[in-house]
Amino acid sequence: MRMLWKNIKGLVGAYDTPPLYLNGREMRSLPVLEQAWLAIEDGVIVDFGSMDVFPGIVDWSGLDVLDCEGKYVLPAWCDSHTHLVFAARRSGEFLSRLEGKSYQEIAADGGGILNSARALQSMSEADLLADARIRMMQAMRTGTGSFEIKSGYGLTLEAELKMLRVIRALKQESSISIKSTFLACHAVPDGDWTAESWTAHMVEEALPRVAEEGLADYVDAFCEKGYFGLAETQSLLDAASSLGIKSKVHVNQFNVFGGVKLCVNSNAVSVDHLEELNPEDISALQQAAESGHPTFATALPGCSYFLGIPYTPVHDLMVAGVPVALATDFNPGSAPSSNMSRVVQLAILKMKMHPLEAIAAATINGAAAMECSDRSGVIARGRAANVILTRPLNGLEDLAYDFGDEPVEKVFIDGIAL
Ligand code: NIG
Ligand code: FE
Repeated sequence: MRMLWKNIKGLVGAYDTPPLYLNGREMRSLPVLEQAWLAIEDGVIVDFGSMDVFPGIVDWSGLDVLDCEGKYVLPAWCDSHTHLVFAARRSGEFLSRLEGKSYQEIAADGGGILNSARALQSMSEADLLADARIRMMQAMRTGTGSFEIKSGYGLTLEAELKMLRVIRALKQESSISIKSTFLACHAVPDGDWTAESWTAHMVEEALPRVAEEGLADYVDAFCEKGYFGLAETQSLLDAASSLGIKSKVHVNQFNVFGGVKLCVNSNAVSVDHLEELNPEDISALQQAAESGHPTFATALPGCSYFLGIPYTPVHDLMVAGVPVALATDFNPGSAPSSNMSRVVQLAILKMKMHPLEAIAAATINGAAAMECSDRSGVIARGRAANVILTRPLNGLEDLAYDFGDEPVEKVFIDGIAL
C-alpha cells in the first residue's frame, strides 16, 4: 500500500538523522517543515520533503493521495509512564475527595493503591488483559503510539507477576513499542509488612523471577513519605542493577528528601512526577545532563490537574538543560486519563511550555525516557508510519488555545488509520 500526503501545513519532528533526545534548551528547536509532503509505503515512512521541491508522482499505481491542507503531521505520542493495567475505576474515591477528603487521607484509610490491589488480586489474568487491551486501543485512538506500562497494583508476589504477564501479552500482540516496568515498591501491603520487609521480599523473591523470565525492562519505586524511603529505593535499584535492569522512579510527588539525587547517582533512566523540586535536585539532574547520560525528568501534568497539586517546574529544568518528558501517568487514582493531547495541552496552559517544547517532551523525549528512540518519537525515513494527522490548525499553539477541542483528526499505526 502506498500513500502520498501532500500540502501538509507543518511536518513536525521530521529528521534526516534524528538525535536521541533534545536537552531542555534544545526542545524549542524541534523542527517543523512547513508546506511538506510525506510518502508512506507498506506502513513505513519512505520519504518526506518540502512541497517547493516536490519531485512529482511518477508511479500512480495503487497510490492513495491525501491532501493535508491546513493540517499538521506529528509523530505519534510517546507515553513513557502509565499504569494502564488495573482492575477497577476509583470514581468513588474521587467523590470522597469532592466531599472533602484528601488523596492522602483516602490512602491512609485503606483506599488508594491498596484499594486497586484488592480488586486486581481477585481478577483473572485474562480479564485484566481484555480490559487493558481496550484501554490501550482507546489511548492509541487519541494519538499514542508507544507506551511504558507498570505493575504495582498487585502487592503480592503472584499478583505482581500476573500484571507483568499481562504487559508481556500486550507487547506480544502489538507492533508498537511497549516497555514493561516492575513497580516493586508501590505501597506497603496490609498485614505485618513494613516498607523494609516488603522491599526485601520483592528484592529477594520477586526480582530474580522477574529477571529470569524477562518480564521487566525497568524497576520502579514510589519514593515518598509514608511509602518507600531512600534506603528501600536504593536497595531495589541496586538489586535490579546487579541483574542488568535499569530504573524509572516515582519521586518528589509530595515531598523532597533526596530521592532525585539517589536516582541520578544510580543512573535511573527517568525520575517521574517532580511536582516538588529543590535546587539540589535540579543541579543533580543538570550534572547528569551535562555528562551526556541524562536522567530524564518526566512531568505528569494530568496528575497535578486531577489532584490539584503543584505542576512540575519544567522551566527551571529546561533552563538547566535537563531533557524533559511528558506522560499521562494514566491510573485510576491520581490521573484517570490516557489522552496525551490533553497532557500536551495542560503542559502549554498550566506549565507555560512552548508548543514545540511540549511536543518534543511528548514525542522524542518521551521515547528516549523509555529507551525506544530507535523506533518512536520522530518522523524519519525507514521508520514505521506511526503518526498523527491533526485537524486544520492555524498554528501549533491551537493545541492549547482551542482547549475544548480534540486536535487529533486521525491516527495511523504502521500506516493504517485506526
Ligand atoms: O503515579 N504515585 C504513585 N502512584 C501512582 C498512582 C497511585 C494511585 O493512586 O493509584 C501515581 O500517581
Ligand atoms: Fe505513576
